[in-house]
This record gives sequence, structure tokens and C-alpha cells, in this order.
Amino acid sequence: MFDSGFGGLTVARAVIDLLPNEDVVYFGDTGRYPYGPRSLDEVRDFARQITTMLVKRHDVKLVVVACNTAAAAALDSLQLEFQVPVVSVIEPGVRAAMAVTENGRVGVIGTVGTIGSGAYQRSVEAHGAPVVLTCAACPGFVEFVERGELDTEQVHVLAQRLLAPVIDAGVDTLLLGCTHYPFLARTISDVMGRQVTLVSSADETAFEIRATLERTGMGRTPGIPCRHRFLSSGDASWFRDLGRRLLGPELDVVEAHAWD
Ligand code: DGL
Repeated sequence: MFDSGFGGLTVARAVIDLLPNEDVVYFGDTGRYPYGPRSLDEVRDFARQITTMLVKRHDVKLVVVACNTAAAAALDSLQLEFQVPVVSVIEPGVRAAMAVTENGRVGVIGTVGTIGSGAYQRSVEAHGAPVVLTCAACPGFVEFVERGELDTEQVHVLAQRLLAPVIDAGVDTLLLGCTHYPFLARTISDVMGRQVTLVSSADETAFEIRATLERTGMGRTPGIPCRHRFLSSGDASWFRDLGRRLLGPELDVVEAHAWD
């Protein structure tokens, strides 16, 4: 699985918990984060390059695009190009949000790239459910997470400004359409109010991975010890320090990855 940095660790946590027999190879492209302000074409190139590396060098049997921006830019082309199943976080997140809302007003927040791509609007329309979606880009949130600033006064002030459109829309459900945002859940929830349910795509994505492994008969036999690997294209020791705080003890060693 891959993300621009630490965000996909929210999905890795859910996968490790739900599928304890599976090995995870996690790539955080911290050397090139953030993806959100980049063009979709550039992010598509990155996603293709990373997927090639995971398939060819690490022989993975399934790829999880644990980054909404990369999924918005590249999911369709990755699914066409690669033989292995490619699972994204967008569709599972939409499913989870639609199961939760009672008043039919759902907010989705994400990077500029994700929100601008229209991927969430298309996914909700495809379901044909009577849901009114209000979208808001939250530039700056990812940078706070990457710096390990999860609950500061500055991020609170930024959240008050960026979340105003979804508060004004009267949503009862807020979908965190960026895998970094669950790390800011306390701040986001403080600003939204306790009556609004925050939905992350991590658990639903893990269920989708399990279903795909079952359907294809690719699940790993229990009993063989797992080996997770974590790679970063940026500062590997920072990835280890903050990543371990965010994911937990499974993140022990981080390998530095340099693009050729
Ligand atoms: N975690 C990525 C996402 O879900 C963040 C993208 C970024 O680096 O801006 O969109």
C-alpha cells in the first residue's frame, strides 16, 4: 500500500488488525509529499511508478492506494494497467458515510486535488442515493500531520476556517476524504461539534481488501509469521519516529527508498 506520507498508516492499522496473517509493504512518498497541490497528471505518474515498484520489486499480490489524491488521479488507469487487484479508499469511504447519515446531508473534506477531481461527487452520484454532498478542500491539514502537530492551536484555527462550509450545510456526517485526516480527528470533531459523526475510510477499506482476498482465493494461510516492511522516500528516521507514534509498535524499521 502507498500514500504520499503518513496518512496511509490509518489504513495500514486497520489492515494489520483485520488481516493479521497478511504481510504489509507500506511505502510513504514523504520525499515528494504533499500530493494535494500537485496536478492530477503528476500524481498519476507517481502512483504508476510506486505501483510498479511494489509489484516488481516486492512481488505484492494486491495494491492498496491508501491516498485519496492518488486514487482520484490514478485508480482507473492502475486497474487497467496492472494484473493485481488495486483497491482504493474512495468508494469504501462513500459506502461507510452513506450507511451512517440520517439527515442525508454529508460533508466530505480532502485535499485540493481530491476535491477538485470530482471523484467523490461521481462516486455518490453512482450510488443514486438521496444524499446531498458538500465538499470542502482543506489545504494545510496534511502538512500539520506530517510535522506531527495534531492538536495545536494553529491547526484548530485553520480547521475553524476550512470547515465552515460543511458546518453551514448542516451535515450530520463528515467523511474524512484524506487518509491523513483521522490523525486530526479530535480537532475536527471539536470544531464540527459532537452531533456530527466523523467517518474514515480505513475500516471499510480493510473489509474490501478482505473480501477481495477471499473472492480471489489469495488470502494467506494462518500460522506463518508476518513480516511488515515500511519504506520512505524521505527522511527514514523521522518516518520511523512519527510513524511509530501514529501506527504503533509494528513500525519498527524504516527502509530509505531512493528513486533511481
Ligand atoms: N493522504 C493523502 C490523501 O489521502 C494526502 C495527500 C497529500 O499528500 O496532500 O489524499
